[in-house]
Amino acid sequence: MRKNIVAGNWKMNTTVPEGVQLATEVNAALAGKKVNCDVVICVPFTHLTSVNQVINQNKLGLGAENCADHKSGAYTGEVSASMVASTGATYVILGHSERRQYYGETSETLKEKVALAFENNLTPIFCIGEVLEQRENGTYFDVVKSQIEEALFNLSAEDFGKVILAYEPVWAIGTGKTATDDQAEEMHAYIRNLIVEKYGKEVAENTSILYGGSCKPSNAKALFAKPNVDGGLIGGASLKCADFMGIVEAFD
Ligand code: 13P
Repeated sequence: MRKNIVAGNWKMNTTVPEGVQLATEVNAALAGKKVNCDVVICVPFTHLTSVNQVINQNKLGLGAENCADHKSGAYTGEVSASMVASTGATYVILGHSERRQYYGETSETLKEKVALAFENNLTPIFCIGEVLEQRENGTYFDVVKSQIEEALFNLSAEDFGKVILAYEPVWAIGTGKTATDDQAEEMHAYIRNLIVEKYGKEVAENTSILYGGSCKPSNAKALFAKPNVDGGLIGGASLKCADFMGIVEAFD
């Protein structure tokens, strides 16, 4: 059966010392505690090596927030999947709406990134989601369908089975405006059905689909109680250990 997962996305927050401190706190909060989900933190590239030194990855997984769409070479400022893997990280967020919106990421580049993540044994946490206008004009199912089809449906069933999906409606990110648990469930069920049609029931049942967008301790329980919501990708609330743990503990 699929895993429940709570993953933090620190985005462009914390200096290295602050990040090490936060990771140390989360690691300590998880030590000796039995939790009912996998817990992951995705941190800036600059933090990966130091954070890896202060966490126990048996309890707290480590990921990057992006990787390059090329293997290596003359791409000044880029960080490759193999560089990420060499820090000890095992996850990578790909296709976050902020990358799509502000850095022009397309399904074509994302396809390359997914392939390179797999080559380097990184588990992609692949983000999809519509903007407000698409929610309001009713095209949100089609938007999400295209995002998944274009960047992921070229994968073998075996590789697709390793992807973690994160549905993040852009209008809910950092706005305090969470999708209702029914809105999340409706989309997650739709996504799972797309996977059934493409890869069959077994792959679909084993795929974790996380919700992201203003998820916090006060709404996590209701969201995670929905049958197709398998956890969360957490931005703002992952920057405070107590809030992040409050979300982890929503799986009780
Ligand atoms: P917030 O939790 O801050 O809304 O961010 C969600 C997100 O973008 C996680 O990737």
